[in-house]
Amino acid sequence: MNTQKYPKPLIIMHWLTVLLLIVEAGVGLYLETLEFNEQNFNVFRLHAFTGVFILIITLFRFSYKVRHLQDLPEIEYYSKGHEKLVKAVHGLMYLLLIIIPVVGLYSIYTIGGLQYDLGGPFPTQEPPHNLVEIHENLVILLGILVLMHVGGVIMYAKKTGENPLRKICLLMK
Ligand code: HEM
Ligand code: HEM
Repeated sequence: MNTQKYPKPLIIMHWLTVLLLIVEAGVGLYLETLEFNEQNFNVFRLHAFTGVFILIITLFRFSYKVRHLQDLPEIEYYSKGHEKLVKAVHGLMYLLLIIIPVVGLYSIYTIGGLQYDLGGPFPTQEPPHNLVEIHENLVILLGILVLMHVGGVIMYAKKTGENPLRKICLLMK
């Protein structure tokens, strides 16, 4: 059995991202129920800041991972197809954790929401519907990938009798 763990910074960033994503999705769903006006802008701000934090962690996490490839525990793949699937799911999750906040920020930027925080007037329009739609659909895609990821972890544990969480958990021996 492979008992090597992911490097500590990767473990911390994995679980911090999970935690922030839960908060971000919750605040995002709440945003949907609010009118876009000056009184509610603090909630938009909270969503934007948390999203930017996720973006920064992801960029740092990816660069850390690339620089420490030799320190990563090996994944035991069942087949070539399984290897491709796991790599695609991991890669796409990274990509979406970068694209989703960028699209969100862009939607706010196009109506002058970022300039508002620098002393400009409050935007006269809501974030463009098409960009918000793209943002939402990408979030749904990320949700599907996360379900596949967690499903894969559970299936791996059932199939091999090993606990893969050990590799990404500081508290498990
Ligand atoms: C990984 C980071 C992010 C996640 C997971 C996320 C998630 C969400 C979710 C779940 C919604 C509700 C959509 C729905 O109806 O299902 C939403 C809406 C939205 N998000 Fe994000 N978001 C992220 C980053 C950002 C960032 C950085 C911004 C920039 C300000 C942003 C701007 C918006 C806007 C403008 C809406 C639409 C709110 C409305 O309907 O008026 N998001 N987001
Ligand atoms: C919710 C968002 C999640 C994202 C975006 C995510 C993303 C990732 C990524 C990209 C990796 C590869 C290692 C790395 O690059 O750091 C990974 C590994 C792992 N994740 Fe997640 N994860 C999430 C949630 C979870 C949850 C809820 C569990 C618990 C079942 C979990 C369990 C694991 C395990 C066990 C590994 C190690 C897999 C191995 O090397 O065999 N993840 N995760």
